[in-house]
Amino acid sequence: MPASPSPAHILCVVGARPNFMKIAPIMRAFNAPGSGLSASLVHTGQHYDAAMKHAFFEQLHIPEPDVDLGVGSGSHAVQTAQIMLKFEPVLDQRQPAAVLVVGDVNSTIACALVAVKKGIPVIHVEAGLRSGDRSMPEEINRILTDQISDLLFTTEASAADNLQREGIAPEKVFFVGNVMIDTLRYNLADATPAAATLAAAGAAGEFAKGFGLLTLHRPSNVDDPAVLRRLLQELADISRQTPLVFPVHPRTRDRISAAGLDELLASANILLLPPQGYLEMLGLMREARLVLTDSGGIQEETTALGVPCITLRESTERPITVDEGTNTIVGTDPAAIRRAYTDIVNGGGKAGRQPQHWDGRAAERIAAVLADWCRSARAA
Ligand code: UD1
Repeated sequence: MPASPSPAHILCVVGARPNFMKIAPIMRAFNAPGSGLSASLVHTGQHYDAAMKHAFFEQLHIPEPDVDLGVGSGSHAVQTAQIMLKFEPVLDQRQPAAVLVVGDVNSTIACALVAVKKGIPVIHVEAGLRSGDRSMPEEINRILTDQISDLLFTTEASAADNLQREGIAPEKVFFVGNVMIDTLRYNLADATPAAATLAAAGAAGEFAKGFGLLTLHRPSNVDDPAVLRRLLQELADISRQTPLVFPVHPRTRDRISAAGLDELLASANILLLPPQGYLEMLGLMREARLVLTDSGGIQEETTALGVPCITLRESTERPITVDEGTNTIVGTDPAAIRRAYTDIVNGGGKAGRQPQHWDGRAAERIAAVLADWCRSARAA
């Protein structure tokens, strides 16, 4: 019997918090016996705080990275350039069959760009999402990464249309579903009960009777003090009716202090928490009466959980969460936020349904397509 070929080596890249939940099921599927693939992991170090990184690796059982580039924070140019400089020798040394990147952060485009210029195929997971807003750094990262990718895996049907419009050959595109929802389904039974997280933070009482969950970190919402003040003022008003739990991203924490808004928050019924681990956040989301956010991933997670979501942005790159899920896009106008909030409190919000392929098996589909693709590439 001929010896079976050695598994194709795929170098997977993560950098920032939203990448970690996407890579966990991919590493598991690629490293499963018989997948025809073997995965190693590079962490760029874009997110480095224990709360932003270590808790996720441990809770999601992501293997320790084979390589940690240790890049850290900086301007977009500095951060992207440093990742590129440090990633290139890793490719020289490891010579993978392909490089896999996820999502839309600076690490995604930086590593994709280095790989494609060295003639190494690039695989993009969560391809084709478009907000239409080129002032978002993530939108630029998405468009450019998709243009230089050899295989593109999508989470929702709209993505294929976006890619076709941008001239990407349909045969490179595979609609496999959502790896972040793989992670959600895999971990839901282990989510930390909200009561435990609230008790650990010294809060019980009225928060235990029902709360809303708030996250904010987009530059467009937190970098301009006037926008941040307007948002927090309305959220403070809402908190007097529905107490809010607010895990604060490091960038937002700095901006709140710099804008002199600590007192406004202290006078509201808003529980400030440090960035939460994955299981704690999952428990908070699942049990919240509603979620207010500017995150991309949380729009999808709330749809999967059936929890009403108010998105504090003017657009979304994830329209399925609005069309089929529980999401409502309101922007930052206080009256619009209030209207959406009142609709949810009075009417319960959109019920939503599960989008196609958000079934916990996206990573398995990716592994199957990729193994076939690697076999054909070897045979050619
Ligand atoms: C990045 C992603 C964004 C993602 C978000 C999730 C890009 C362009 N943006 O934005 O898409 O939704 O991560 O968190 O890649 N900081 C720390 N500790 C850390 C990481 C960051 O203190 O571990 C602080 C630093 O002050 C840093 C700031 O947060 O300057 C912003 O971090 P950065 O990674 O540049 O971008 P994010 O805003 O987190």
